[in-house]
Amino acid sequence: MKDQEIADKKGYVRGLEGVAAGETTISYVDGVNGILVYSGYNIHELAGRTSFEEVAYLLWHDHEDLPNERDLERFSHELIKNMHIPYEVVQLIKSMPDYSHPMAVLRTAVSALGCLDPSAEELSGRAFDKKAITLIARVMSIVAGMHRIKRGEPMLEPDIDRTFAENFLYMFRGTWPDEEESKAFDTLLVLHADHGFNASTFSARVTMSTLSDIYSGLTSAIGTLKGPLHGGANQKVMEMLSDIGNVDDVEEYIDSLLNEKKKIMGFGHRIYKTEDPRAIHLKIWAEKLAAKRGQEKLFQIATRIEKLVMEKKGIHPNVDFYSAVVQYALDIPKEYYTTIFAASRTPGWIAHIREQLTDNRLIRPTSRYEGKLDKKWVSIGERK
Ligand code: COA
Repeated sequence: MKDQEIADKKGYVRGLEGVAAGETTISYVDGVNGILVYSGYNIHELAGRTSFEEVAYLLWHDHEDLPNERDLERFSHELIKNMHIPYEVVQLIKSMPDYSHPMAVLRTAVSALGCLDPSAEELSGRAFDKKAITLIARVMSIVAGMHRIKRGEPMLEPDIDRTFAENFLYMFRGTWPDEEESKAFDTLLVLHADHGFNASTFSARVTMSTLSDIYSGLTSAIGTLKGPLHGGANQKVMEMLSDIGNVDDVEEYIDSLLNEKKKIMGFGHRIYKTEDPRAIHLKIWAEKLAAKRGQEKLFQIATRIEKLVMEKKGIHPNVDFYSAVVQYALDIPKEYYTTIFAASRTPGWIAHIREQLTDNRLIRPTSRYEGKLDKKWVSIGERK
């Protein structure tokens, strides 16, 4: 049955597939032709040529072009200057048990930032702009800081003369990346920066539509991204690659997943019915970095999975598949992959939060009630 027929029959669209829930000028996704556009620029124009800071600026000033040198410098410095994590948040992160997932810690830390901001309720003007920029910087530094804290290592200060990508890798790992690593990571950040009304962005917009605050919007988004059907898939991809271990074992592994009707993580997409344009760039970097790090076997397992899933199910890899291989080669532990997705998506979420507020109307759909309507009250002693 076609989507429209199902919708007509049931009176609703399951999973809101194909439903346009609003207007945006921030990003455009054409799933049939595999096109992703950020504020007028096709992603292929930007990937590998622009830094994360340029893209964050672009999304935040979505009616403008890419920043010129002066604007970019000002914006980048503003970001790096704001990477400092408040003492209370550091203490909060330290108080979390070791078993808590980094995405849960990030969600909690971002929510805590809202408690520490006396003007959290401000939804417009300079105060709001300042919050937005600070949050782009802090989500990234919280991810790096949390990793250092969990390992009992000191937190590191950013260098204003380095890029955001370089600073993150340094603050996370404790070593500055080489040119290739910083380019790969910067490209990864750029490719994750926005993606239409995806689930986490939509949840941020729903939260903002009630005129809640920016921290609540971001906390909703992070909680939504965490799930394995969304951003959480990148960690699951690495678990699958490690589980398989050998190229010769790929087919049996994939067959068993398919026979059990299980999802193969990092494949499929609600919108893309063709190649995900982000995966093209990430695959190139995955191959380069895997060769550099002597991790060719991992890359071969990944490409074998891609080939088999295409042959057996006709499904393409999505952004999360090769991003896992890239992050592995950058020495990032798999539990942090989704937090890095969150940090790189923060400019997109924030741009959508502002866009929602610019022309707000409460987002409040209806539901089709399928329960009973005629139950009668019975006193507690007479209940079965
Ligand atoms: N592995 C195996 N089969 C998959 C699949 C996957 N990763 N993704 C989709 N399919 C199949 C479904 O089994 C279903 O087949 P059927 O019609 O024979 O039952 C069909 O494709 C449609 O899948 P459905 O889950 O209804 O699509 P969706 O639009 O609701 O879901 C995703 C989209 C992303 C949630 C889904 O593709 C998925 O779960 N992927 C794995 C998780 C992932 O990588 N998430 C990150 C997304 S960027």
